[in-house]
Amino acid sequence: MPLEYMGGAFATLDDVDVKGKRVIVRFDLNSPVGKDGEILDDSRIVEAAATLRELCDRGAAVVALSHQGRPLEDDFVSLEKHASLLARHSGVDVGFVMDVVGPEALRTVASLRPGEAVLLDNTRIVSEDYIEAEGRVHARGIMVSRLSKLASIYVNEAFSASHRSQASIVGFPYVLPSAGGRILEREIRALNRAVTSGERPKVVVLGGAKLKDAVKIVDYLTSSGVADEVLTTGLVGLLFLYARGYRLTRDVANLLARKGGEEAITKARRIVEEGRRVRAPLDFVVEVGDKTYIKPADELTEGVPKDIGPSTVEYFGAKMRGARVIVMRGPAGVIEDARFRRGTVELVKAALSSGAYTVFGGGHFRAILRELPDHLKSRVGHLSTGGGALLYYLSGRPLPGVKALVDSAKIFKLV
Ligand code: 3PG
Ligand code: MG
Repeated sequence: MPLEYMGGAFATLDDVDVKGKRVIVRFDLNSPVGKDGEILDDSRIVEAAATLRELCDRGAAVVALSHQGRPLEDDFVSLEKHASLLARHSGVDVGFVMDVVGPEALRTVASLRPGEAVLLDNTRIVSEDYIEAEGRVHARGIMVSRLSKLASIYVNEAFSASHRSQASIVGFPYVLPSAGGRILEREIRALNRAVTSGERPKVVVLGGAKLKDAVKIVDYLTSSGVADEVLTTGLVGLLFLYARGYRLTRDVANLLARKGGEEAITKARRIVEEGRRVRAPLDFVVEVGDKTYIKPADELTEGVPKDIGPSTVEYFGAKMRGARVIVMRGPAGVIEDARFRRGTVELVKAALSSGAYTVFGGGHFRAILRELPDHLKSRVGHLSTGGGALLYYLSGRPLPGVKALVDSAKIFKLV
């Protein structure tokens, strides 16, 4: 079934016949890498393996692509280890070539038979893949023109990189009939339900420390009428208290200025002045020296607020109780420290007990959800793997990678 996206629609793997065809699949295998080049968390590779397996079982010859890290950074490494993990988790014998668009890559791709798979090397070795440009422009570039000649279908299975307008994400859909992969499909389906469906009330709980992104999201959600309530926690909550004129310590004010800049603070003030529906925490767990205290929001004159307090948990919990949809992104406190984990855990429990459809965004929640009893775990609607991409979606900005799929569906009359 085609999937709706921003007024258009794109094809999924159910809408394309891959049998006997060479299929380029852009995965996002980008993973944390340790000092010796070992992969520290293979969860993206494990998820990708299922799609690879499905395509090979359906008789496709799979040309797998992915980036890893950013040029000149420590985790900018070759994909050799990714290939063996992909093989182990999919049960498919995945080949690897230390090349992306050179003769060895092209030879290997050209000789690939149905049911076989090869992973080419880190796409960002090719400079085009680290340049943001329109899909139609990238389509004329070297990467897309060379590889697309050897394939007949393109699959975007890189939801978490689809906020990038880079060659391997946006170029192929303009020259090959293209579809969204299973992971991308699940993400868009869940986010469509959370954001664009008629289910109301919708409550969005925003925490963490990415202030610039958070303000964009609050701005969009409260001006478009998408959210009925926006509840802020973490540093985002402190930002909105600050915007309302609450007194904070110089250290906290400096932290807000450093993380958000003048821009985020000004925007937050405007949102508050316009009387939009955004709530800030009532109290906090504050660390002063080596002790912790519960302090109301108007008494944050010393120490560092590290978690939301019990009154906030109760207040936000009550707001969530009547919700039909809850989206939660970013932790409420410094959850790496067990003393400041409670606020986040309690809000997660409240969301899951509310009966609403729940979407969680960000790796922080993976660990927290794992610790919960089964009856709560089973109520998770969706756990999103797309950090930056999710922020894009929630702030109403079109994802270039998904928009390219919609264009492809039109060009090749797929839906
Ligand atoms: C990610 O892990 O956020 C994605 O793989 C995108 O990577 P990037 O931020 O380097 O583009
Ligand atoms: Mg990133």
